[in-house]
Amino acid sequence: MAVSDARNPKKKSFRPSEVTAIRGPMLTFRTDPWMVSESESVDYESDALVVMENGLIREVGPADRMLPQLEPGVEVTRWKDHLILPGFIDCHTHFPQTDMIAARGNDLLDWLNRYTFVEEQGFSAPAHAREVASFFLDEQLRHGVTTSSVFCTTAPESVEALLTEAHRRHLRIMAGKVCMDRNAPEALLDSPGRAFAETCKLLHRWKGQGRVEVVITPRFAPTSSEYQLAALGAFAKEFPDSPIQSHISEQKAEISWVKRLFPKDADYTAVYARHGLLKKRSIFGHGIHLSESELRRFSESGASIAHCPTSNFFLGSGCLKVSRLKKSTRPVKVGLATDVGAGTGFSMLQTMNEAYKAAKMKGTSPTAFQLLYLATRGSAEALGLENRIGAIAPGMEADLVVLDPRATPLAARRMKHAESLHDQLFALLTLGDDRHIAATYIAGIRWNMGAARPSGA
Ligand code: GUN
Ligand code: ZN
Repeated sequence: MAVSDARNPKKKSFRPSEVTAIRGPMLTFRTDPWMVSESESVDYESDALVVMENGLIREVGPADRMLPQLEPGVEVTRWKDHLILPGFIDCHTHFPQTDMIAARGNDLLDWLNRYTFVEEQGFSAPAHAREVASFFLDEQLRHGVTTSSVFCTTAPESVEALLTEAHRRHLRIMAGKVCMDRNAPEALLDSPGRAFAETCKLLHRWKGQGRVEVVITPRFAPTSSEYQLAALGAFAKEFPDSPIQSHISEQKAEISWVKRLFPKDADYTAVYARHGLLKKRSIFGHGIHLSESELRRFSESGASIAHCPTSNFFLGSGCLKVSRLKKSTRPVKVGLATDVGAGTGFSMLQTMNEAYKAAKMKGTSPTAFQLLYLATRGSAEALGLENRIGAIAPGMEADLVVLDPRATPLAARRMKHAESLHDQLFALLTLGDDRHIAATYIAGIRWNMGAARPSGA
């Protein structure tokens, strides 16, 4: 067995069939720590060996038990004093908003009109879309994000650009052409027919291509006519396995607007439900102000919420109370998301930090395990991908992140005073950011920054 120093990785091309192994402290989840006890849900191994082959996790367990059985010649990368986790999953983000992140606005609708709808008009130009997509994915990987569900723009070229770049990087990714046929600038509007046809074309074009999946993406109810929602509902019926993403119940003014636009529907959720868009693998950003009966409908349908705390603070939308969604009599699936560019960064550690503060504003104090769950297995469940990603177990896809808890002077100092695994993890996700990402593994291969630049860039 060869042992390599994790800090000096050899440059490697992508060879998914080779057997690789990493060793170090490892944490993953068997089930949901919001619903059951920590001891039932958390799987922690202080010195684990994770063996990866053909892009999948082949075996995982205590290193002292597994090392003698490992075939000779397999290189074992040692991550002593680090922490191996499933790769972070950002279940709601917008790649075309990368260049307008951190733009000051009044409320959601003002921010959309002033910046977002202007910025998104540039993405029918393939070269621009490709350049931004490449930066966006590299930035995600630098932050340990191995899968995301991404809004593109109404231009199919934007989806093509993102999926091409994601495919080059062997990523599991979900992405959709945004559908809007009203209440946005003319240049960004499609039509019910175009929304259907362009989504259909992308779906067939990318079907079976690596780990790439096309998502049905009505932006939100106010920018789609009844006809467009009906067309996308018909699409969802024709392709029942296709995921759906949108926004719901983010701000009070938006909710009032939906009431005016759809006066016959009881609430915001009913608009999507009536058009066949509320189902398993439907994921809606925000959901901050959903009523009890709307949450019941989410629970019954199997639809999920993407919790976007940095975005919710930035736009002044409010604070989601995750524990309310997790009520055992009508549980709603919740994942964690950055929502770039209303979200203020790519770091899922910082997103967990802000999720904790949002929960505090609602009088609750989630544990580090609960927050880490949202960023890994919780997001996988929200996206309906829990059988493939979000946990470290045999047969799962080998997408991993390795954290260095002592990456900064302050964190290193704080770790000396950590009283328990939980205390260490909590301090890490409160203080942590991209400096703490020691390595990102995609399909069993360590990601090498700068290895997958678009040709000519
Ligand atoms: N609602 C509709 N579109 C958007 C968007 O791009 N960002 C956010 N945060 N909310 C939305
Ligand atoms: Zn969003």
